[in-house]
Order: sequence, then C-alpha cells, then structure tokens
Amino acid sequence: SEKMEITNVMEYEKIAKEKLPKMVYDYYASGADDEWTLQENRNAFSRILFRPRILIDVSEIDVSTRVLGFNISMPIMIAPTAMQKMAHPDGELATARATSAAGTIMTLSSWATCSIEEVASTGPGIRFFQLAVYKDRDVVRWLVKRAEEAGFKAIALTVDTPRLGRRESNIKNRFSIPRGITLKNFEGLDLAKIYKTNNSGAGSYISGQADQSFSWKDIKWLQSITSLPVLLKGVLTAEDARSALEYGSAGIIVSNHGARQLDYVPATIMALEEVVKAVEGRLPVFLDGGVRRGTDVFKALALGAAGVFVGRPSLFSLAVDGETGVN
Ligand code: FNR
Repeated sequence: SEKMEITNVMEYEKIAKEKLPKMVYDYYASGADDEWTLQENRNAFSRILFRPRILIDVSEIDVSTRVLGFNISMPIMIAPTAMQKMAHPDGELATARATSAAGTIMTLSSWATCSIEEVASTGPGIRFFQLAVYKDRDVVRWLVKRAEEAGFKAIALTVDTPRLGRRESNIKNRFSIPRGITLKNFEGLDLAKIYKTNNSGAGSYISGQADQSFSWKDIKWLQSITSLPVLLKGVLTAEDARSALEYGSAGIIVSNHGARQLDYVPATIMALEEVVKAVEGRLPVFLDGGVRRGTDVFKALALGAAGVFVGRPSLFSLAVDGETGVN
C-alpha cells in the first residue's frame, strides 16, 4: 500500500490513534485531571517568537553536542516512557536500536516491557536508566546495580511521582496491562508475581510501592549506592534547582512528566528560565514536555537548555513504524 509522506512527528500521533487500541492510545496520550498543563506544554512554545538575525554565515552547521561528557549527534534525546511493547512488539528494543542508530541517548523507563539487560544486548549505545525509589530499598539497589552492570551511563531519578497522577481516561477505560506484556525489570520479584495474578492492579500496585517519604536527604543515600551521575527529573522551580545544586545532583531535567502528574503546573518551557538562572551554569539543565519541532528545540536551547528529551513522539512513531519510525 502507498504510504503517506510523514512530514512532522505530530502526524505519527494521528496514525497511531487509528492503529492502537483506544485503551493504549489513551494511556500514551493522556495527561492528569483537566489536562490544562498538557495543552499548555504545547501552547507555551507557540507563544515564544524569534528575533532572527540576518547575514550570518550559516554554511557550516553542526548540531552535535556533549551531554555528561558523551558526544551525541543532536541535542535531542529519548525520555523514559513506560510499556513500549503496547505500541509495537519490539518495544524498547526498537527504541534502543533506533536511538543508537541516530547517535543519541535513550532513557529506559523502570516500567519497561523489555529488561535492562535485553536493552543492553541490542548493542552499543549511550543509555540512561530512569528510576523511582521504592519502599523496599533492596529493589532500588538491585535495579541500580543492574543498570551499572549493563553499561548505562546515568540515573534519571523521577522526583515528581510520589503518587501517580490521576489520568481520567485510564480510569474510564479500566486500563490494564495487555496480556503477554510484563514489567520486565521487576521480573523475579514478589511484586512481579502480584501483578501477574492481578493484572489490572499492576500499575497501581507498583506505584503503590513508591516510597512517599523519599526526600532531599535520601538523594545522598542514592548517590552513596552508585557511581553513576544522578539527574533529577521533574524540577520546575528555582528553589528546587538550588537544592539540586546543594545535594550534588549531576543535572536537572525540567519536566512535568508530560503533564501526567500534577495538573496546573506551568509548561516546562515557561519554567526553564528560572531554573537555568538559579543554577548559574553549575549544572546542565535539560527539558522535556511538548517538544515536537526543531523550532521547539531551538527555543529551549535559546532559553538555556543543554538539550531536550522527547516522550510521546517516540511512542507514536514506534506504534506506526517500529524502529524505522523512531529513527
Ligand atoms: C511518561 N513519562 C515517564 N517518566 C518517567 O520518569 N518514568 C516513566 O515510566 C514514564 N512513563 C511515561 C509514559 C508515557 C506514556 C508518557 C507519555 C510519559 C514522562 C516522560 O519521561 C516525559 O517526561 C514526557 O513524556 C515528556 O513530554 P512529551 O514529550 O511526551 O510531551
């Protein structure tokens, strides 16, 4: 069949919406509560305009950059998103291959449907591991150790999810993890058994294991169990950016979790400037949320970001065209 020419990543979402079961599409697309922040993540980009300067020699352009000392082909990286096998049977393996082929960094979600080790087995690549802290600290140690041994280069600690955001379409659809798909990183644990026997409760069970007492002092603990740099994912204020500095974080990801956590927080592109100012160049500041075009990337860089991450575009392109789509 003749394929429509894809000219921007938003088009992948339209095709994915037709292709995916409603429950899966809604899980990927939805935000928390009124989805005000979800709209705003995009709208805020559209309010930022350029002041273009002319007659500058642009005959040689190099968009490659360095992130935590690693050379990558472009300042665009892959954000951690859960359960990619719902999009495509190859799941995170396809994302890993496509990201390596593109010469950039993939962040693997703790809630992946391929394991840390399976992703590492796809071949060389610069990869970060997204972590949440669970009540059972042995589980955290175990995950971190596996990420280290599999050659992952950094931990992206998600700090905006002490409990899971309320995404109403998931409630309406009675979202459950489709048969045959498991949260592979937890396989072998008791909690993995629990979600196998009680599939519908899997997400809420594991998110129920999140340690809600986790606070700044515990950042020191996390740093004490790993040699990997720890990035804080989910900072939105100057105050927290200064704490991130104080507690020795290796970098900040300005993120509102793709608007899936607390609704009525600002768009990330609106929060970026105050975070950048607060760290005074002492830490790299990254951004995710609503990045869909090269001009969005440029706006983030112009406002002081060291690079951006994309979430949903990688899921929808994976759903439409697997590894080729993501690449
Ligand atoms: C996410 N995100 C996320 N973040 C995280 O730290 N751990 C996770 O497991 C997930 N899972 C997840 C699933 C889905 C379906 C989405 C859409 C998002 C948040 C993600 O890392 C990132 O912050 C946002 O996706 C960025 O916004 P955009 O690019 O999707 O607009």
